[in-house]
Amino acid sequence: MTKAIVPGTFDPITVGHLDVIERAAKIFDEVVVAVAASPDKNGTGPLFNVQERVELISTATKHFDKVSVKSFDNLLVTFAREENANVLVKGLRAITDFENEFQMAALNWKLASSIETLFIMASPDNMFLSSSAVREIARHGGSVSGLVPEGVEVALRSKFGHG
Ligand code: PNS
Repeated sequence: MTKAIVPGTFDPITVGHLDVIERAAKIFDEVVVAVAASPDKNGTGPLFNVQERVELISTATKHFDKVSVKSFDNLLVTFAREENANVLVKGLRAITDFENEFQMAALNWKLASSIETLFIMASPDNMFLSSSAVREIARHGGSVSGLVPEGVEVALRSKFGHG
């Protein structure tokens, strides 16, 4: 049994994240989506609190029986050890992701060299997609249809009072 962790802030989950989770589930026996509380992210903190993010991801992944969703508020490698998982899977979009992802992978390697970080290339359709862009579009009342799962679209509309 090989268990993989797909970690992230997921504020909110996008179809790009879902694609990575789905592809990881084809490779590994079990996939745990690990939602980082990330209270300090973006200065003001995440748009959705961690319970909301877990719920949105759980709804969007309920048809994958290999996939579970959990939150964590400690080091990712500590969470991975608690889960008895030794693979971290991250999506990689354009070259702009590389530096940050490379740094995180190197630090995680320093902290726990038995835990491997694997990268899955984002599909070409999702190369441009990010949670921050989704938040910005939704904040200004634009349509995020096709960029996020349906439940997230609804949650964004109610968060920003657009309907
Ligand atoms: O969605 P993101 O911003 O790419 O996810 C980043 C995340 C949550 C994976 C990263 O910030 C993280 O692992 N946070 C937990 C704290 C930690 O372990 N930090 C040290 C690794 S650099």
